[in-house]
Parts: sequence; C-alpha cells; structure tokens
Amino acid sequence: MSDPGMRRFAGRRAVVTGGASGIGAATAARLAAEGAAVLAVDVAPEGRVAGVEYLRGDVSKEETWERVAAWGPVDVVVSNAAAVQVAPAHETSLASWDRQLSVGLTATFLAARRLLPGMSGISGLPGGSMVVTSSVHALVGLPGHPAYAAAKGGLTALTRQLAVEYGPYARVNCVLPGPVMTPAWDRVDERGRADSVRATVLGRFGEPEEVAAVIAFLASAEASFMTGACVVVDGGWSVVKDSA
Ligand SMILES: NC(=O)c1ccc[n+]([C@@H]2O[C@H](COP(=O)([O-])OP(=O)(O)OC[C@H]3O[C@@H](n4cnc5c(N)ncnc54)[C@H](O)[C@@H]3O)[C@@H](O)[C@H]2O)c1
Repeated sequence: MSDPGMRRFAGRRAVVTGGASGIGAATAARLAAEGAAVLAVDVAPEGRVAGVEYLRGDVSKEETWERVAAWGPVDVVVSNAAAVQVAPAHETSLASWDRQLSVGLTATFLAARRLLPGMSGISGLPGGSMVVTSSVHALVGLPGHPAYAAAKGGLTALTRQLAVEYGPYARVNCVLPGPVMTPAWDRVDERGRADSVRATVLGRFGEPEEVAAVIAFLASAEASFMTGACVVVDGGWSVVKDSA
C-alpha cells in the first residue's frame, strides 16, 4: 500500500517503541521505506525489521530513554508499546495495574520528557513530531480491561496536553486503532476474533500496515496543521452498535 515514490522522511531520524512486532514493526518499516533512519525499541530479544536499528529496552524505565537519547537527535517519536493483562478490576493485582499503566502511559511521559525538548525539525516545520498509539478502548468500555483502558484514555489526554505544552515547537497526535491483526491477538480464540470482526463496519481485521500508514501521515509534514488530534483507525468498530 505504500507508494514507493514517497520519501517524506528522507534525512529524518525516528524512534518507534514496540518496534519488534505488529503495528510498531509495520511503522518502523514504513518510516524506513520513506527514508528515515529508524531506531526500534522493544523488550523482545531482537528486532525483526530489516534496515532498522534495534535497541532492546523496557520503555517504562528512565534508563532506556537515556540510551535512546544517546542514539542522537530525533525528529519523530512513535510511542506505541503497551502491556495488557485481561481481568476484571477485582481480579487485577496492584502490580498488574502498575505494570500496565507504566508501560502503557508513563512510558509516553518519559519519551516526551526526554525527547520533545530536543526535537530538531521536520520538513521545514518548526519542530518534530510525536505520535502515540492509544486504542478504541479509550472511548468504549469492554469487560476485562480496566488498566489497559485507563492507560489508553490517559494517552488521549496526555496527547492533548503535550500538544499544548510543546506547540508550535513540536506536534503531538495519537491514533486509536480498533481490531488489528497482530501477535497481540494470539491469546484470543476464534470466537472472540469473529465477534471483533462482526463489530466492525468493514467486516474484517485491520492490517498493521493500515495503522502504520496513518501514523506515518501524522508524523509527516503532510499533517502540518494537526496537533492534539486523536484519529480513530478501526474499520468503523466504534461507530456501529450491534442491535442483535
Ligand atoms: N492489535 C490491536 O488490535 C490493537 C488495537 C488497539 C490498540 N493497539 C495498540 O497498538 C500498539 C501495538 O500493539 P500490537 O497489536 O502491535 O501488539 P504486539 O504485541 O504485536 O506488539 C507490541 C510490542 O510491544 C513490546 N513491548 C511490550 N512491553 C514493552 C516494554 N515495556 N518496553 C518495550 N517494548 C515493549 C512487545 O515486546 C511487542 O513487540 C499497542 O499500544 C496496543 O495497545 C492494538
């Protein structure tokens, strides 16, 4: 789907968290294909995207962001990693809650604090660009996701806050994916998958590349008048109500 002629990130430097799998890997590949030098950051033992540098680290730790900063100047940061443990609130331990919030929300704060002040500029714009991966869980309640939903809702508020604090110096936007076929769905059975597909207007899972395309657009100079925006990428999941 990527136009091979597009080079929106030529000469730019981008960091993508959760970059070893799914949406993060597709985003790293897309930014690299469009000319960026990309650093993928992930806890996985190794990166899996050709042509992308890899840093193994936990994004919820400050020291990881020191290592990222040591990589050099950054024009684009995509804060995309998340942790999820499915359980109702009364079966969620405090340790699980803390972990999901620290990976899913605090890590974006750490990224912003370390990188946004130093962003050097993209394609003639006054500053760099940050894109955050939230979720439709920020909008709609689903059983078993109290910490995940709280983190994702927090990310939409944090996106607006960072946009205000760092604009016009840097732009900050977020995407809210619906069901997208990545390894995150390995733990969901066939019935759960079918239910999720039925809950979309488009009648299918999204592909990671379809979210990566929107992230790349938001990160690029084409989105030069967008900041503080939350863009839903869900095949219509959040606009349809199954009346059956
Ligand atoms: N796939 C979907 O249906 C869907 C829907 C809505 C939102 N999202 C969001 O999209 C983002 C990417 O999800 P995905 O579906 O590609 O999942 P994925 O499991 O394929 O990839 C997530 C990556 O994050 C990494 N990661 C986890 N904890 C980390 C940590 N502490 N530090 C660094 N890396 C860490 C994992 O190792 C993994 O490589 C997440 O924020 C997720 O919440 C996904």
